[in-house]
Amino acid sequence: MRDSRPKLLMIEDDVGLQRQLRWAYDNYQLLIAGNRTEALAILREERPAVVTLDLGLPPDPDGISEGMAALRDILAHAPSTKVIVASGHGERSSAREAIAQGAWDFYQKPIDFDSLGHIVGRAFHVHALEAENNRLAQTLSTLAPNGLGQIISADPEMLKLIRTAKRVADTRATVLIRGGSGTGKHLFARGLHEESARSKGSFVTLNCAAIAEASLETALQHEIEQADGGTLFLDDVESLPLAFQAELLRYLEKRTVTRPGDHRPIPIHTRIVCATSHAPEPMIADGRFREDLYYRLAEVVLHLPPLADRPGDAVLLARHFIQRDAPALNPQVRDLAEDAIAALDAWSWPGNVREVENRVKRALVLAEGRHLGAHHLDLAGATTEVEDSVSDLKSAREEADRQAIRRALARTGGNIAAAARALGVSRPTLYELIRNYGLQAPSS
Ligand SMILES: Nc1ncnc2c1ncn2[C@@H]1O[C@H](COP(=O)(O)OP(=O)(O)OP(=O)(O)O)[C@@H](O)[C@H]1O
Ligand SMILES: [Mg+2]
Repeated sequence: MRDSRPKLLMIEDDVGLQRQLRWAYDNYQLLIAGNRTEALAILREERPAVVTLDLGLPPDPDGISEGMAALRDILAHAPSTKVIVASGHGERSSAREAIAQGAWDFYQKPIDFDSLGHIVGRAFHVHALEAENNRLAQTLSTLAPNGLGQIISADPEMLKLIRTAKRVADTRATVLIRGGSGTGKHLFARGLHEESARSKGSFVTLNCAAIAEASLETALQHEIEQADGGTLFLDDVESLPLAFQAELLRYLEKRTVTRPGDHRPIPIHTRIVCATSHAPEPMIADGRFREDLYYRLAEVVLHLPPLADRPGDAVLLARHFIQRDAPALNPQVRDLAEDAIAALDAWSWPGNVREVENRVKRALVLAEGRHLGAHHLDLAGATTEVEDSVSDLKSAREEADRQAIRRALARTGGNIAAAARALGVSRPTLYELIRNYGLQAPSS
């Protein structure tokens, strides 16, 4: 008989623990992997909705490098998977890092089977709700804004990038999208596709980092053909091995492919959009990325700023995600609490927009009441000394000035001239402000 229990993949290298897990979670179809390779094979084959991941995997059982690599692979392959990471030895910082990279939740080792069971149960629940939500969103997609219009920002630099993207969407120009993890590269790539006449063709994503070198040649060829009349999105393009860089260049020059065993070139009309979170210049300088290919791929460059450099956007995005996800996850929740707004502004967002999205989703699941507080977002420590001192308009404005100055100084590495320029004041004025507000003047 077919097993109808939900599939749960547990990645754990300790054989004794594996046995206990099987025994503790018999309400799931338990799939167990002892390392990253096994885990990925199972993921491809079985598509489990929820995965638990021990960050300390061989060959790095005492560190987290292999576990973090596994997390990236899982999410690259199946982004909707709910990954719950185990942090050993009371290591909260590695759990935080994993959450910033897209893990859904974490638990502390040694395992308490009951509480892990609750987290797993909730993860399945949220996954099912999201799947349902996506299904509804698909049905409603004719009404919802699509393309570049879905990109939320009030930041002048971002708005400029969106305008540029709109202008080039319906051309053949290749576009390279740069930006840190979770800054919205994929969203821009999709938007470029949706706002072009090619939106009738397919949008095909090839993740150059997630594919084994042995299968890249066929993958590249196959995906270029798949995207005929549409868009081919090459994600993590910097990982393309040199041999395939040559092949891609050949395609871009001839706009044809040939099938194995057949020498007739087949013309293909595919728009190429690439993304990278690495600076290409050093890779070009030391020969890992072909310069000629780079210029072919980067006819237009969109460089997405980190979220920390878009003041106000974190709050805007958090509100957007509440509106979008509260109906499915927690319809009671309407908005952010005051302390959450302060914390969202103060946090440094290493995981950029994806981190906002993950924190809001998690908070929605946890919160009771109408407002999400800083503690629901796990940002209770992130507020600055600001909020309780703000009593009237004058001190609020002064505090805002103080923050803007601190941020400008931080961003310019303490360079007064550059900070003054960024703030739109003269150097003497900035010196005076620093003195008046009792800020630390940078030593030069
Ligand atoms: N400006 C934005 N407005 C609304 N949603 C956004 C915005 N930027 C990113 N997102 C959402 O945040 C998540 C991460 O964005 P996306 O996948 O595009 O990032 P990425 O740059 O491709 O990340 P990575 O480098 O990790 O692949 C997605 O769910 C995306 O829809
Ligand atoms: Mg991406």
